[in-house]
Formats: sequence, C-alpha cells, structure tokens
Amino acid sequence: MADLKRGVLITIEGIDGVGKTTQTKLLTEYLREKDYRVVQLREPTDGFWGKKIKNLTKHGRTASPKEECQWFLNDRKEDVEKNINPALSQGKIVIMDRYYYSTIAYQGALGLNTEKIREENEKFAPKPDMVIILDAPPKVGLDRITDKRKEELNYFETLEYQEKVRALFLSMKNYDNVRILDGSKNVEEIQGDIRRVVEELINIIG
Ligand code: TYD
Repeated sequence: MADLKRGVLITIEGIDGVGKTTQTKLLTEYLREKDYRVVQLREPTDGFWGKKIKNLTKHGRTASPKEECQWFLNDRKEDVEKNINPALSQGKIVIMDRYYYSTIAYQGALGLNTEKIREENEKFAPKPDMVIILDAPPKVGLDRITDKRKEELNYFETLEYQEKVRALFLSMKNYDNVRILDGSKNVEEIQGDIRRVVEELINIIG
C-alpha cells in the first residue's frame, strides 16, 4: 500500500456532459494501480435526498431554488458524515464526481447568493485539497449527452442555463486549490492533464 500522511480530498467539477464521470473513473483506476487507497463518490448520491433530487431533474422543477439548494445540502451532509469524513480520517484519497462547487454554480445560476452557498457548505463540508474544473462550451457538453449517450436532456440541460453555470465555475478561478482544465480536449488528453495536477498534489502531501 502506498500510504499518505493524511487523507486527500479531490473533486472534479464542470457542466453537464463535460466528462467528469469518465475522468473520475479513470483517475480512480490509475491511483489504485499505484496502490493508493481510493474512495470514489458522486453527488447527488443514491440516498434519500439524492433520490428526491433525481426525481426533480426528471419531472421538472417543482421546488423553489432555496428548497432545491437545501436538498443538495442535506444530501451532502449525509455523504460527509457517512462516507467522506470516515475515508479521510483513514488516510484515503477521496475522489468526488461533483461536490459543493456544483451547488455554488448550479443553484447560484438560479439567482441564489454564491458566497452564502459557499459559507453554508463550508460549515460542515471539508474543503478539498484540489478542485478540478473541466471547462468546455455548453454545446460540447450537451452534444456529448445527446450523441454519445443517446439520452434525453433533463431540465438542467439547456444551453442558456449551462452558460450561466459555466460562467460561475469560471468565476471560481481565484478560490483556494482550484485548477481549471480544458474539457474540450479528448478523453486521454484530459486524463493526462488531470494526472499531472493530482501527482503534483500527492507529492506535496507525501
Ligand atoms: P449529475 O452528476 O449530472 O447526475 P446524472 O449523471 O445522474 O445526470 O447531476 C445531476 C444534476 O444535478 C446535474 O445537472 C447537476 C445538478 N447539481 C446541482 O444542481 N447542484 C449540486 O449541488 C449538484 C451536486 C448537482
């Protein structure tokens, strides 16, 4: 086992269809091959609140922006208590496919105050050691969803909304530990870029 001095928290963020899920999976496999203990998680989760959220995305917006934001927070509180904190205290690497930066961007894009969202989250959610934001034009993301996955777009997935979400992700460039990477490259190139920044981080933590 390649043991680290402490747990490490990494989140991969970005608009819908930018490739977070593929990239988180590849990064997890790579680090496991290197013998690190890795926990891969995604938000929204499959828990009570996560299921409520998935219903919302399928059937259209029935909650107010504030309620919606609260649901993501409730879901995350469970995730932090049950999964994230225990793994970090065991010195594992935790790789998140979305975390509270998605709430800042997506619920911020509905008009909620982004600084308030951040404060509310940081009251209970550990701050990541690295926040990787994959950036690409919304058209790239939405085309990937309809062409490759042959999926219908859900109500989050309109160009107009994704533009706002993207702008908010880009506005986080000066937040601590944020790295913005080009998500319009191909899968291998993006993975190469991600590995480079993650290895830098791991070397620093040791
Ligand atoms: P997503 O990870 O895309 O799930 P799936 O792959 O099952 O579609 O998440 C669903 C949507 O939830 C996505 O459009 C982003 C949105 N979202 C928020 O609005 N706020 C949040 O805090 C999170 C974590 C996700």
